[in-house]
Amino acid sequence: MSKLGFTRAEFPEGFAFGTATSAYQIEGVKFGGCGESHWDTFAATPGNVERAEDGWIACDHYNRWEEDLDLIRDAGFDAYRFSTSWARVMPDGESVNGEALDFYDRLVDGMLARGIRPFATLYHWDLPSALADKGGWTNRDVAAWFADYSRTVMARIGDRVEATATINEPWCVAWLSHFMGIHAPGLRDIRAAARAMHHVLLAHGTATQALRAEGIDNIGIVTNLEGSDPVDDRPETLAAHARNHAIYNEWFLSAVFKGEYPEAALEGLEPHLPTGWQEDFATIQAPVDWLGINYYSRHRIVNAGGPWPQIGYADAVEETTAFGWEVTPHHLTNFLLWASREYSGDLPIHITENGMAGHDYLLDGEVPDPQRIKYLRDHFAAAKAAMDQGAPLAGYFVWSLLDNYEWAHGYDKRFGLVHVDFDTLERTPKASWHAMKEALKSG
Ligand code: FCB
Repeated sequence: MSKLGFTRAEFPEGFAFGTATSAYQIEGVKFGGCGESHWDTFAATPGNVERAEDGWIACDHYNRWEEDLDLIRDAGFDAYRFSTSWARVMPDGESVNGEALDFYDRLVDGMLARGIRPFATLYHWDLPSALADKGGWTNRDVAAWFADYSRTVMARIGDRVEATATINEPWCVAWLSHFMGIHAPGLRDIRAAARAMHHVLLAHGTATQALRAEGIDNIGIVTNLEGSDPVDDRPETLAAHARNHAIYNEWFLSAVFKGEYPEAALEGLEPHLPTGWQEDFATIQAPVDWLGINYYSRHRIVNAGGPWPQIGYADAVEETTAFGWEVTPHHLTNFLLWASREYSGDLPIHITENGMAGHDYLLDGEVPDPQRIKYLRDHFAAAKAAMDQGAPLAGYFVWSLLDNYEWAHGYDKRFGLVHVDFDTLERTPKASWHAMKEALKSG
């Protein structure tokens, strides 16, 4: 048995074992005519990001992409989930930067040359500042802007990517960024949040239709589902828990697959939704071919009191990662079964992200990360348990290939299978990378 507790033979033929990254977190916006995004200005504003770090150089992947693809191939991964940067492709939000398209073209060819199946994500949070100036996700026009950008990218690489995701983590794009103020643009406003919650879905649907019209298929959306458990069974706690689940997990799946929003979220958001929102479900429900689920952890929910939605988080009680996130693999099993039963039916599901942050360090040329190996072992087992109960799981992408720019936490939270020294940019595979290699080589 491999250190990760699984062998390939236990998974169906064609199952995509992969790893994932995103453009802003690794590429380096200094290079290749990339335009400014709302993450650059958010990071430049004191108090938003630890040590005010930004993606200026990041992992220098823009220049080191060949070495990075070699690391994916050498571990034995079948697939790579990467994202294209909107601000790189359209630096002023409108005109197209040819250098950017050339870069993604080379990257996709580089994957194919190494036998790696390309899984593209069109939006992993790098909104051009020029579009942020026009209101970004709070402006309904973002749906048309996004469709236009999506068409531009896929006209160049769509003939060679295996699967395409429109939006990464709509909850983060909308709620975390416009209600909680933790990610760019850092708003804390329920009206802006409600609009972003709706427009991000409208953008997904509009782009999906636009891409299909161009002959692109195998399109999906990547939702982040977070486990939650009420800390007690008082009615007010249970109500806060239900609202959290509705806003976090049900809102997006329910819109895409059922054409409705959950009541427990609408009770607070409906007054702030744009007029005529119900009519947009015809677009939002544009059929998808697969569902992406990012899963990491859970929160213990308390009733925080105060204004709606009164959602508060209690301290962790289980083992935690360097992020403080609780390790709760059973929620992954439950989500895979729940999402297919309630929403996506027989459509293939990919775990598009799963992994953990560690305090990883280099010691005599090696990086021991036993907690990550155990985390991955337990989550692969949880995924397998869901498959045994009928969940149509078709792929599993470990987050992340490299230590990278972890948004508001800067470079401190290391999620990589490969360690990056941010002074020299040298890459060193961690013990978990070697463990993946061992498991993927097994029959
Ligand atoms: C997800 C993001 C990804 C990374 C991981 C840790 O929410 O999609 O970019 O930050 O969390």
